[in-house]
Amino acid sequence: MEKRVVFPPNLLVPDFLWGTATSAHQVEGGTFNDWTEWEEKGRSKDLSGNACNHWNLKQFKEDVERMQVLGLNAYRMSLEWSRIMPEPGIINPAVLDQYRQMLMILQQAGISTMVTLHHFTNPVWFVERGNWSKASLEPFYTYVDAATKALAGSVDYWNTFNEPIVLILMGYLMGQWPPGKKGRIVSAFRLRKRFSEAHNEAYKIVKKNTGRPVGLVHSFASFEAVHGWAVERAIAGFVDGIANCWIVDHTENDFLGVNFYFRQLFSGLRPLPTSGLGKRVSDFGWEINPESLTKVLLSLKKYNLPIFITENGVADANDSLRADFIWDHIQALQVAMRAGVDVRGYFHWSLLDNFEWAEGYTKRFGLIEVDFKTQKRRPRPSAYVYRDIIRTMG
Ligand code: FCB
Repeated sequence: MEKRVVFPPNLLVPDFLWGTATSAHQVEGGTFNDWTEWEEKGRSKDLSGNACNHWNLKQFKEDVERMQVLGLNAYRMSLEWSRIMPEPGIINPAVLDQYRQMLMILQQAGISTMVTLHHFTNPVWFVERGNWSKASLEPFYTYVDAATKALAGSVDYWNTFNEPIVLILMGYLMGQWPPGKKGRIVSAFRLRKRFSEAHNEAYKIVKKNTGRPVGLVHSFASFEAVHGWAVERAIAGFVDGIANCWIVDHTENDFLGVNFYFRQLFSGLRPLPTSGLGKRVSDFGWEINPESLTKVLLSLKKYNLPIFITENGVADANDSLRADFIWDHIQALQVAMRAGVDVRGYFHWSLLDNFEWAEGYTKRFGLIEVDFKTQKRRPRPSAYVYRDIIRTMG
């Protein structure tokens, strides 16, 4: 380990979760949902195809062994709704059984589990029947009920939705993700409310069936002013209210799932691109600015809820940024913890290189490199840096 730990290791709570995160469509392979159709229309750089072959139990088991080698004690994964409910209202028990086996493999390896019920993908029949229209919600609740009843004993923490605001932004304002709508501002506001209501309903179902902690996962961008001018601060505060606070204020949560990737700067009234001031930028063109993670966490203190960093990572194919990225973000979260923010875990995005939505396989977020032709894995040097941090602080 080259870098020094700035704060004493005992700053972290003893059962702190050190994990990685993935989502079903991005790693499992062989899924069929609205994203598969989107890919077939040429709207992603690649077809997700076999992804990381994670639906294969032998492969899954080997990947869990890789987690153990890295000293990880937690894993965040998602369930693929379209597998569990291939037709409206019809549950496939064999699929739930396979998820139960996967969770058991994790449990037997001493790895705590956090499971997301909805991570961007929808069954095709659901899209055809209204796609988050008010009338279309019932099968979603049936799915949540069946999945949480079946997996109740196997999951430690539940997430309802992953980043619903990002889904709305990309699918209804930017048109880059399904359903490919652009500039639908009225729909965007309507959907923000719909997802919050769906979260609250799902929250109740999960609590009733499992009694375990449940939280929404939100992508918290930090909205900041370039020059510190009053107008910039006003607009940053306004957008923060719409994009961050509203959804937390309108949902019931036992904890907050914080995904953090970058800050959004305003210069005058103008938002800057995600490359920000461009000092350190990932392969995705996202500026690396760990101090903004501290700012986000401090801003969440008012909610008085435990926090998990449910995603944080960097697209970095040649692994030249990742080790520093991990160090700097873990230190940034320690600064917030020192100031009294109750952070309970950190899940790095991602365990493996995987299918990065519209970017296909061109963006490499994995601690472990994947050769998608052979399914061979090779841990990147930064994976061992993360292992050493865990050893020191865990
Ligand atoms: C997040 C998504 C996750 C992954 C990372 C890079 O917004 O939740 O699936 O694509 O970005």
